[in-house]
Amino acid sequence: MKFLAGFVFCIVLGVAGAVGYSYSGLVDITAANPDNPAVGWLLHNTYRYSVRQGMASVAVPANLATPEKIKAGAKLYSEECVYCHGSPGEDASSLAKGLNPPAPMLLAGSGPYPANRAFWVAKNGVRMSAMPAWSKSYDDDHLWSVAAFLSQKRGLSAEEYKALTAGD
Ligand code: HEC
Repeated sequence: MKFLAGFVFCIVLGVAGAVGYSYSGLVDITAANPDNPAVGWLLHNTYRYSVRQGMASVAVPANLATPEKIKAGAKLYSEECVYCHGSPGEDASSLAKGLNPPAPMLLAGSGPYPANRAFWVAKNGVRMSAMPAWSKSYDDDHLWSVAAFLSQKRGLSAEEYKALTAGD
């Protein structure tokens, strides 16, 4: 009985402490300052495993990466994603520089980017980051096109990016 009372007391104290901390105004919510390393690790780890879990439920459509689909995806990328995720040969935009957590440069690097990961994150977005849920604005077909582009064209040159995103 004594143990139970002590246990409940500790929980009440913990909750009161957390609520008090929230009201104190001492929590730094600014994007300008980096997270405390322990909090940063916890948030990023939570993100990594949530994405891993979410993308596992997504089946990639057969024959996704047709040239038409990739071109449509490149166009959508250049209209909606490039400000945060960058393009080859260009410096990070003024918007991208201020993001916390930062937006990864999705076209940098080499090798295929997983299409199911691109689709799942683009569709659902990431809470408490600048990554929007694009399902509010685009249907799955559009989102699969941007996934096709990202999965096939990571590491493309600035010239190829320009050619792919130029109007018809
Ligand atoms: C306003 C900024 C912003 C825009 C616009 C934006 N994103 Fe993001 N995106 C982010 C941020 C920030 C993250 C990282 C989130 C995190 O680490 O918690 C992210 C993460 C991602 C990831 C996951 C990367 C990984 O492997 O972990 C994908 C895929 C992605 N975005 C795709 C897109 C696509 C596709 C578009 C356009 C349709 C887009 N984003 C537009 C900010 C943006």
